Amino acid sequence: MEEIEIIKPDDWHVHFRDNEILKAVVPETSRHFARSIVMPNLVPPILNAKQAIEYKKRIEKAIPKADSFEPLMTIYLTEETNKNELKTAYKNGAIFAVKLYPAGATTNSDSGVKDIKKVMPVLETMAEIGMPLLIHGEVTDKEIDIFDREKVFIDQKLDFICKKLPELKITLEHITTKEATKYVENGNENLVASITPHHLALNRNALFVKGINPHNYCLPILKRETHREALIKAAISGNRKFFLGTDTAPHLTKDKESDCGCAGVFNATYCVPILTQLFDNKNALSQLENFISRHGALHYKLNINKEKVKIFRSSKKIIFKKFINVNKEKIKIFAPDFPVFWKIIK
Ligand code: DOR
Ligand code: ZN
Repeated sequence: MEEIEIIKPDDWHVHFRDNEILKAVVPETSRHFARSIVMPNLVPPILNAKQAIEYKKRIEKAIPKADSFEPLMTIYLTEETNKNELKTAYKNGAIFAVKLYPAGATTNSDSGVKDIKKVMPVLETMAEIGMPLLIHGEVTDKEIDIFDREKVFIDQKLDFICKKLPELKITLEHITTKEATKYVENGNENLVASITPHHLALNRNALFVKGINPHNYCLPILKRETHREALIKAAISGNRKFFLGTDTAPHLTKDKESDCGCAGVFNATYCVPILTQLFDNKNALSQLENFISRHGALHYKLNINKEKVKIFRSSKKIIFKKFINVNKEKIKIFAPDFPVFWKIIK
């Protein structure tokens, strides 16, 4: 059996939700990852340090004793966010980063930002103190085709922010297009991007295989194969500007398989084996550690994890569990449409 050993990975973008779902999903991430940046789009959202600290405690309670895992907390940027409170919360370590959702762009984003100009004073403060900004990069205008919303956001909004504040640390999250890879590659050194396993594994055809597939519906929506290829190229390139953010986003199956199904793919459980397989398929295993265990920490100026993990290649395709249970409900676990032979023993 082939075996590789890499530095323990980090996941720079997760949704843990709250209550029963939180208890069910936190161990799926804490099993394999050392740290995660936790998204604030709860209902109601995490808007200040006090709420973030309480939420962190609820997450910590759900971490199994055997795992050592650190949640890094974020707050949800609104046009009312107070820059002085934010500065204090960052300096005392309560909040790690700020998330910018354009209002209405995705799940629970209604209180997000409508007019970027209104949050520029907050962004200026963040640039001064070195606090990272995480961006859901899609415009929300109904007239803009859903497949173009990331590209238009880059042209109309991101470019404005980057030009005004080149010293602001920005992560363009879950990028999905070749335009995004190019923009980030050519952008200033503080601009980086995260990429999800599902956008690396699937193109938009996966939404319509023998019928409609709500479990592959996420935002930004899956794009054409040419875009997926650009993402793979970026992920395996060794370029420090690209790293893993799984955007693992649990929703109960009844909420996905509905007349208005939620956006989000729950991928925490098999994310590392799936990525290993994707890199292996491209003969790029030597870049896996950079993408999942190094580049993010370098951008966020954190230590690289000391612990190592072993990943094994089995001769037989791995059989994935299909669901995790949440009381009487369930959450579907993401599995790609290609065989996976890699496995983490834990
Ligand atoms: O697919 C997604 N699901 N994209 C997001 O941006 C949010 C997430 C969620 O919270 O469900
Ligand atoms: Zn997300």
